[in-house]
Amino acid sequence: MSPIEPRTIHLDFLYGTAWKEDRTAGLVELALRMGFRGIDTANQRKHYFEAGVGEGLAAAYRAGVVCRADLFLQTKFTYQRGQDERLPYDPEAKLSVQVAQSMGSSLEHLGTDHVDSYLLHGPSSDEDWSEADAEVWEAMRKERDAGRTRLLGVSNISLGQLEQMVAVHSEGPAFVQNRCYARRGWDREVRLFCDERGITYQGFSLLTANKQVVRDPLVGELAAGANATPAQVVFAFARAVGMVALTGTSSAEHMTQDLASSGVELAADAVRAIEGMVG
Ligand SMILES: NC(=O)c1ccc[n+]([C@@H]2O[C@H](COP(=O)([O-])OP(=O)(O)OC[C@H]3O[C@@H](n4cnc5c(N)ncnc54)[C@H](OP(=O)(O)O)[C@@H]3O)[C@@H](O)[C@H]2O)c1
Repeated sequence: MSPIEPRTIHLDFLYGTAWKEDRTAGLVELALRMGFRGIDTANQRKHYFEAGVGEGLAAAYRAGVVCRADLFLQTKFTYQRGQDERLPYDPEAKLSVQVAQSMGSSLEHLGTDHVDSYLLHGPSSDEDWSEADAEVWEAMRKERDAGRTRLLGVSNISLGQLEQMVAVHSEGPAFVQNRCYARRGWDREVRLFCDERGITYQGFSLLTANKQVVRDPLVGELAAGANATPAQVVFAFARAVGMVALTGTSSAEHMTQDLASSGVELAADAVRAIEGMVG
Protein backbone atom coordinates (compact mmCIF):
# COMPACT_ATOMS: atom_id res chain seq x y z
CA MET A 1 0.00 0.00 0.00
CA SER A 2 1.28 3.49 -0.72
CA PRO A 3 1.61 6.01 2.09
CA ILE A 4 -1.61 7.85 2.82
CA GLU A 5 -1.99 11.42 1.63
CA PRO A 6 -1.79 13.94 4.46
CA ARG A 7 -5.06 15.66 5.26
CA THR A 8 -6.00 18.46 7.58
CA ILE A 9 -7.30 17.32 10.94
CA HIS A 10 -9.67 19.47 12.94
CA LEU A 11 -9.56 18.17 16.45
CA ASP A 12 -11.27 19.92 19.33
CA PHE A 13 -12.16 16.91 21.36
CA LEU A 14 -11.62 13.17 21.29
CA TYR A 15 -14.36 10.83 22.38
CA GLY A 16 -12.83 8.19 24.67
CA THR A 17 -14.15 4.66 24.56
CA ALA A 18 -12.64 3.05 27.68
CA TRP A 19 -14.72 1.14 30.24
CA LYS A 20 -17.91 0.96 28.15
CA GLU A 21 -18.06 -2.78 27.50
CA ASP A 22 -21.46 -3.67 25.96
CA ARG A 23 -22.44 -0.03 25.68
CA THR A 24 -19.43 0.79 23.49
CA ALA A 25 -21.11 0.49 20.08
CA GLY A 26 -24.20 2.47 21.09
CA LEU A 27 -22.19 5.21 22.78
CA VAL A 28 -19.78 5.59 19.86
CA GLU A 29 -22.72 5.93 17.47
CA LEU A 30 -24.35 8.44 19.84
CA ALA A 31 -21.12 10.44 20.15
CA LEU A 32 -20.88 10.68 16.35
CA ARG A 33 -24.52 11.75 16.13
CA MET A 34 -23.85 14.42 18.77
CA GLY A 35 -20.95 15.79 16.71
CA PHE A 36 -17.72 14.13 17.85
CA ARG A 37 -15.35 13.38 14.98
CA GLY A 38 -12.32 12.09 16.89
CA ILE A 39 -12.46 8.63 18.51
CA ASP A 40 -9.86 7.26 20.92
CA THR A 41 -9.61 3.54 21.62
CA ALA A 42 -7.01 0.82 22.25
CA ASN A 43 -6.49 -2.83 21.36
CA GLN A 44 -6.53 -3.62 25.07
CA ARG A 45 -9.59 -5.72 25.86
CA LYS A 46 -9.07 -5.22 29.60
CA HIS A 47 -10.26 -1.61 29.40
CA TYR A 48 -11.60 -1.17 25.85
CA PHE A 49 -13.93 -3.08 23.51
CA GLU A 50 -12.38 -2.06 20.20
CA ALA A 51 -14.61 -4.36 18.14
CA GLY A 52 -17.58 -2.56 19.72
CA VAL A 53 -16.10 0.76 18.56
CA GLY A 54 -16.05 -0.71 15.04
CA GLU A 55 -19.71 -1.73 15.39
CA GLY A 56 -20.62 1.82 16.44
CA LEU A 57 -18.71 3.27 13.49
CA ALA A 58 -20.42 0.87 11.07
CA ALA A 59 -23.84 1.80 12.44
CA ALA A 60 -23.07 5.51 11.98
CA TYR A 61 -21.83 4.92 8.42
CA ARG A 62 -24.97 2.91 7.58
CA ALA A 63 -27.20 5.63 8.97
CA GLY A 64 -25.33 8.27 6.92
CA VAL A 65 -24.23 10.18 10.03
CA VAL A 66 -20.57 10.27 8.94
CA CYS A 67 -18.21 8.54 6.56
CA ARG A 68 -14.71 7.28 7.31
CA ALA A 69 -13.09 10.34 5.75
CA ASP A 70 -14.84 12.62 8.28
CA LEU A 71 -13.20 10.87 11.20
CA PHE A 72 -9.99 10.86 13.17
CA LEU A 73 -9.53 7.34 14.52
CA GLN A 74 -6.86 6.70 17.12
CA THR A 75 -5.89 3.40 18.69
CA LYS A 76 -2.97 2.01 20.70
CA PHE A 77 -0.44 -0.78 21.00
CA THR A 78 -0.39 -2.08 24.58
CA TYR A 79 2.39 -4.22 26.06
CA GLN A 80 1.42 -7.53 27.61
CA ARG A 81 1.93 -6.05 31.10
CA GLY A 82 -1.06 -3.74 30.47
CA GLN A 83 -3.30 -6.51 29.12
CA ASP A 84 -5.33 -9.37 30.57
CA GLU A 85 -5.36 -12.80 28.89
CA ARG A 86 -7.25 -11.50 25.83
CA LEU A 87 -4.20 -10.53 23.78
CA PRO A 88 -4.35 -9.18 20.23
CA TYR A 89 -0.95 -10.77 19.42
CA ASP A 90 1.22 -13.78 20.06
CA PRO A 91 3.06 -12.99 23.31
CA GLU A 92 5.91 -15.28 22.25
CA ALA A 93 6.51 -13.27 19.06
CA LYS A 94 9.09 -10.50 18.82
CA LEU A 95 7.77 -7.07 19.84
CA SER A 96 7.98 -5.82 16.26
CA VAL A 97 5.74 -8.73 15.20
CA GLN A 98 3.36 -8.05 18.12
CA VAL A 99 2.97 -4.46 16.87
CA ALA A 100 2.11 -5.64 13.34
CA GLN A 101 -0.36 -8.23 14.71
CA SER A 102 -2.01 -5.75 17.08
CA MET A 103 -2.35 -3.19 14.29
CA GLY A 104 -3.84 -5.79 11.93
CA SER A 105 -6.37 -6.75 14.59
CA SER A 106 -7.24 -3.07 15.26
CA LEU A 107 -7.89 -2.42 11.57
CA GLU A 108 -10.17 -5.44 11.48
CA HIS A 109 -12.01 -4.30 14.61
CA LEU A 110 -12.44 -0.79 13.26
CA GLY A 111 -13.37 -1.83 9.71
CA THR A 112 -10.76 0.37 8.08
CA ASP A 113 -7.50 0.04 6.17
CA HIS A 114 -5.76 2.72 8.23
CA VAL A 115 -6.11 4.66 11.46
CA ASP A 116 -5.24 8.33 11.80
CA SER A 117 -3.11 7.97 14.88
CA TYR A 118 -1.37 5.04 16.52
CA LEU A 119 -0.09 5.42 20.07
CA LEU A 120 2.26 3.41 22.20
CA HIS A 121 -0.03 3.03 25.23
CA GLY A 122 2.86 3.51 27.62
CA PRO A 123 6.59 2.79 27.84
CA SER A 124 7.65 -0.65 29.06
CA SER A 125 9.05 0.65 32.35
CA ASP A 126 8.21 3.55 34.61
CA GLU A 127 11.78 4.83 34.54
CA ASP A 128 13.45 4.94 31.13
CA TRP A 129 12.76 4.79 27.43
CA SER A 130 13.98 1.21 27.05
CA GLU A 131 15.35 -0.89 24.19
CA ALA A 132 11.94 -2.59 24.06
CA ASP A 133 10.30 0.82 23.56
CA ALA A 134 12.81 1.63 20.83
CA GLU A 135 11.99 -1.63 19.01
CA VAL A 136 8.26 -0.98 19.31
CA TRP A 137 8.60 2.62 18.10
CA GLU A 138 10.57 1.56 15.03
CA ALA A 139 7.90 -1.10 14.32
CA MET A 140 5.22 1.58 14.63
CA ARG A 141 7.12 3.73 12.15
CA LYS A 142 7.07 0.79 9.73
CA GLU A 143 3.28 0.58 10.15
CA ARG A 144 3.09 4.27 9.32
CA ASP A 145 5.36 3.85 6.29
CA ALA A 146 3.13 1.00 5.11
CA GLY A 147 0.12 3.35 5.27
CA ARG A 148 -1.64 1.65 8.18
CA THR A 149 -1.56 4.84 10.27
CA ARG A 150 -1.09 8.47 9.30
CA LEU A 151 0.49 9.64 12.55
CA LEU A 152 2.23 8.22 15.61
CA GLY A 153 2.24 9.07 19.27
CA VAL A 154 2.95 7.94 22.79
CA SER A 155 0.94 7.90 25.99
CA ASN A 156 1.60 7.83 29.74
CA ILE A 157 5.09 9.21 29.28
CA SER A 158 7.27 11.35 31.55
CA LEU A 159 9.43 14.28 30.50
CA GLY A 160 12.59 12.22 31.10
CA GLN A 161 11.35 9.38 28.90
CA LEU A 162 10.35 11.83 26.16
CA GLU A 163 13.79 13.40 26.25
CA GLN A 164 15.40 9.97 25.95
CA MET A 165 13.01 9.01 23.16
CA VAL A 166 13.78 12.01 20.95
CA ALA A 167 17.52 11.56 21.62
CA VAL A 168 17.46 7.97 20.31
CA HIS A 169 15.08 8.21 17.35
CA SER A 170 15.31 10.31 14.22
CA GLU A 171 11.56 10.90 14.50
CA GLY A 172 9.55 11.85 17.57
CA PRO A 173 5.82 11.58 18.24
CA ALA A 174 3.10 13.72 16.68
CA PHE A 175 0.99 13.22 19.83
CA VAL A 176 1.53 12.80 23.54
CA GLN A 177 -1.50 11.58 25.49
CA ASN A 178 -1.21 11.94 29.28
CA ARG A 179 -3.36 12.03 32.39
CA CYS A 180 -3.46 15.66 33.36
CA TYR A 181 -3.34 16.45 37.07
CA ALA A 182 -3.72 20.03 38.28
CA ARG A 183 -1.57 19.12 41.29
CA ARG A 184 1.28 18.37 38.88
CA GLY A 185 0.95 21.74 37.17
CA TRP A 186 -1.41 20.23 34.59
CA ASP A 187 1.63 18.29 33.26
CA ARG A 188 3.27 21.66 32.46
CA GLU A 189 6.79 20.38 31.74
CA VAL A 190 5.58 17.78 29.26
CA ARG A 191 3.24 20.33 27.63
CA LEU A 192 6.13 22.79 27.27
CA PHE A 193 8.30 20.10 25.70
CA CYS A 194 5.45 19.34 23.27
CA ASP A 195 4.91 23.04 22.44
CA GLU A 196 8.57 23.49 21.59
CA ARG A 197 8.51 20.57 19.16
CA GLY A 198 5.12 20.95 17.52
CA ILE A 199 3.75 17.87 19.31
CA THR A 200 0.01 17.95 20.05
CA TYR A 201 -0.75 17.23 23.69
CA GLN A 202 -3.88 15.19 24.43
CA GLY A 203 -5.12 15.39 28.03
CA PHE A 204 -7.31 12.79 29.73
CA SER A 205 -8.93 12.54 33.17
CA LEU A 206 -9.28 16.33 33.14
CA LEU A 207 -12.42 16.08 35.29
CA THR A 208 -11.83 12.87 37.24
CA ALA A 209 -8.22 13.66 38.24
CA ASN A 210 -9.13 17.24 39.24
CA LYS A 211 -12.32 17.03 41.28
CA GLN A 212 -11.16 19.83 43.59
CA VAL A 213 -10.72 22.16 40.62
CA VAL A 214 -14.21 21.33 39.31
CA ARG A 215 -15.56 22.22 42.77
CA ASP A 216 -13.39 25.31 43.23
CA PRO A 217 -15.42 28.53 43.90
CA LEU A 218 -13.44 30.48 41.29
CA VAL A 219 -14.27 27.89 38.63
CA GLY A 220 -17.90 28.11 39.79
CA GLU A 221 -17.83 31.90 39.39
CA LEU A 222 -16.24 31.69 35.94
CA ALA A 223 -18.86 29.13 34.93
CA ALA A 224 -21.73 31.32 36.15
CA GLY A 225 -20.26 34.34 34.33
CA ALA A 226 -19.97 32.39 31.08
CA ASN A 227 -23.36 30.69 31.43
CA ALA A 228 -21.47 27.40 31.45
CA THR A 229 -20.87 24.48 33.81
CA PRO A 230 -17.66 23.99 35.85
CA ALA A 231 -16.81 20.98 33.63
CA GLN A 232 -17.07 23.20 30.56
CA VAL A 233 -14.73 25.72 32.19
CA VAL A 234 -12.14 22.98 32.77
CA PHE A 235 -12.38 21.89 29.12
CA ALA A 236 -12.24 25.55 27.95
CA PHE A 237 -9.09 25.96 30.06
CA ALA A 238 -7.56 22.86 28.48
CA ARG A 239 -8.21 24.25 25.01
CA ALA A 240 -6.86 27.68 26.00
CA VAL A 241 -3.51 26.16 27.02
CA GLY A 242 -3.29 24.18 23.79
CA MET A 243 -4.51 20.72 24.76
CA VAL A 244 -6.81 18.42 22.84
CA ALA A 245 -9.14 17.11 25.55
CA LEU A 246 -10.62 13.64 25.85
CA THR A 247 -14.01 12.92 27.31
CA GLY A 248 -15.56 9.53 27.79
CA THR A 249 -18.95 10.74 28.95
CA SER A 250 -21.87 8.32 28.64
CA SER A 251 -24.46 11.10 28.78
CA ALA A 252 -25.94 12.76 25.68
CA GLU A 253 -26.33 16.00 27.66
CA HIS A 254 -22.67 15.98 28.71
CA MET A 255 -21.62 15.17 25.13
CA THR A 256 -23.40 18.34 24.00
CA GLN A 257 -21.91 20.36 26.84
CA ASP A 258 -18.40 19.03 26.31
CA LEU A 259 -18.46 19.91 22.59
CA ALA A 260 -20.03 23.32 23.36
CA SER A 261 -17.13 24.14 25.69
CA SER A 262 -15.20 25.19 22.57
CA GLY A 263 -17.46 28.27 22.62
CA VAL A 264 -16.54 29.16 26.23
CA GLU A 265 -13.86 31.87 26.19
CA LEU A 266 -11.75 32.47 29.29
CA ALA A 267 -9.85 35.71 29.92
CA ALA A 268 -6.05 35.39 30.16
CA ASP A 269 -6.09 36.02 33.93
CA ALA A 270 -8.70 33.28 34.41
CA VAL A 271 -6.52 30.84 32.46
CA ARG A 272 -3.52 31.82 34.62
CA ALA A 273 -5.58 31.39 37.80
CA ILE A 274 -6.73 27.89 36.81
CA GLU A 275 -3.21 26.97 35.74
CA GLY A 276 -2.06 27.93 39.23
CA MET A 277 -4.63 25.73 40.99
CA VAL A 278 -3.05 22.72 42.61
CA GLY A 279 -6.23 20.66 42.69
N1 LIG B 1 -3.89 6.52 27.49
C1 LIG B 1 -4.40 6.03 28.60
O1 LIG B 1 -3.76 5.27 29.34
C2 LIG B 1 -5.80 6.42 29.00
C3 LIG B 1 -6.21 6.24 30.34
C4 LIG B 1 -7.49 6.63 30.70
C5 LIG B 1 -8.34 7.17 29.75
N2 LIG B 1 -7.93 7.33 28.45
C6 LIG B 1 -8.84 7.83 27.40
O2 LIG B 1 -9.48 8.99 27.86
C7 LIG B 1 -10.89 8.80 27.79
C8 LIG B 1 -11.55 9.64 28.86
O3 LIG B 1 -11.23 9.10 30.12
P1 LIG B 1 -11.19 9.98 31.43
O4 LIG B 1 -10.22 9.34 32.36
O5 LIG B 1 -10.95 11.42 31.03
O6 LIG B 1 -12.57 9.82 32.10
P2 LIG B 1 -14.03 9.76 31.49
O7 LIG B 1 -14.37 8.34 31.21
O8 LIG B 1 -14.14 10.74 30.40
O9 LIG B 1 -14.88 10.20 32.72
C9 LIG B 1 -15.27 11.50 32.81
C10 LIG B 1 -16.24 11.65 33.95
O10 LIG B 1 -16.67 12.98 33.87
C11 LIG B 1 -18.07 13.01 33.69
N3 LIG B 1 -18.38 14.08 32.71
C12 LIG B 1 -18.03 14.18 31.41
N4 LIG B 1 -18.48 15.33 30.87
C13 LIG B 1 -19.12 15.97 31.88
C14 LIG B 1 -19.80 17.19 31.98
N5 LIG B 1 -19.92 18.01 30.93
N6 LIG B 1 -20.32 17.54 33.17
C15 LIG B 1 -20.20 16.73 34.25
N7 LIG B 1 -19.58 15.54 34.21
C16 LIG B 1 -19.05 15.16 33.05
C17 LIG B 1 -18.49 11.66 33.21
O11 LIG B 1 -19.77 11.30 33.70
P3 LIG B 1 -20.99 11.02 32.69
O12 LIG B 1 -20.65 9.76 31.95
O13 LIG B 1 -22.15 10.89 33.59
O14 LIG B 1 -21.05 12.21 31.81
C18 LIG B 1 -17.43 10.75 33.83
O15 LIG B 1 -17.80 10.35 35.13
C19 LIG B 1 -11.07 7.28 27.93
O16 LIG B 1 -12.32 6.83 27.45
C20 LIG B 1 -9.93 6.80 27.10
O17 LIG B 1 -10.26 6.85 25.72
C21 LIG B 1 -6.67 6.98 28.07
